[in-house]
Amino acid sequence: MTTLRIAVQTKGRLFEETMTMLAESSIKVEQSKRTLLVPAKNFPVEILYLRDDDIPQAVASGIADVGIVGENEFEERQEDAVIVKRLDFSKCRLSLAIPKAFEADYQAQGLKWFDGKRIATSYPGILKRFLKANNISADVHVITGSVEIAPGIGLADSIFDIVSSGSTLVSNNLIEVEVVMRSEAILIGNKALSAEKKDILDEIIFRFDSYKNAEGKKYIVLNIMTDKLPEVAKLLPGLKAPTVTALETSGWSSVASVIEEKHFWEIIGKLKQLGAEGILVMPIEKMIL
Ligand code: PRP
Ligand code: ZN
Repeated sequence: MTTLRIAVQTKGRLFEETMTMLAESSIKVEQSKRTLLVPAKNFPVEILYLRDDDIPQAVASGIADVGIVGENEFEERQEDAVIVKRLDFSKCRLSLAIPKAFEADYQAQGLKWFDGKRIATSYPGILKRFLKANNISADVHVITGSVEIAPGIGLADSIFDIVSSGSTLVSNNLIEVEVVMRSEAILIGNKALSAEKKDILDEIIFRFDSYKNAEGKKYIVLNIMTDKLPEVAKLLPGLKAPTVTALETSGWSSVASVIEEKHFWEIIGKLKQLGAEGILVMPIEKMIL
């Protein structure tokens, strides 16, 4: 039987959300830190745990069929694989940052400030392409971890690194001066997948989507005087339209719909003003559109 091999990061920023997404898609894998290759229990998939740096090449060469990796890592490696889907989590940016003390200098000079400077990074490929495109000649200094401490210990004048919350920069007295690329988790695939493997992949994408679609959404049910229905319908657009059922009590209806969690309290407030009663709000596990 055909199985699809998915390369996944062993640890790091994508790990948790990747495992959650697989579990929510009912793809059950043991989170073994020792075994490299773990078959799923109930689905034709096996998980290959790798360092994130190795995932693009593993997928391009066919050692894995698909992989979940940061776009930054994929862009850095320039391996011959395709982006199958953007996964909309683990968002970050790759930025140039300099010691706070040079902020005024930088404002006066702009990117030219980097001319002749040493830049520490774990992403030399992306950085060198950016510098070249902007005609800056700087000394790119490759280090694999703790890039942010390089300026403080005199190893470099500036850094090029991942910025997410920005707190690492703040605690090292650095300021972000140039966003070079934005990144998120992506699903990449080998260019020559068999039809059988593509079918398995389609099913996985379908499940990922159902999970993602339900994210941040709630199911709401309430009772309302029937003459208020047009106003309620405006507040609750639902997927297509709210579902309306007549109640035994004449003049009253029950309405069910889907709402965005971020507009939750605002909508509830307006519904109460319209006289809504017995409002129930429930989590949505999956949503198939
Ligand atoms: C990255 C980066 C910074 C940090 C930035 O490291 O190298 O250290 O995240 O995040 P922040 O803006 O939220 O502070 P990562 O967590 O990927 O681990 P690493 O040390 O292996 O690079
Ligand atoms: Zn990292």
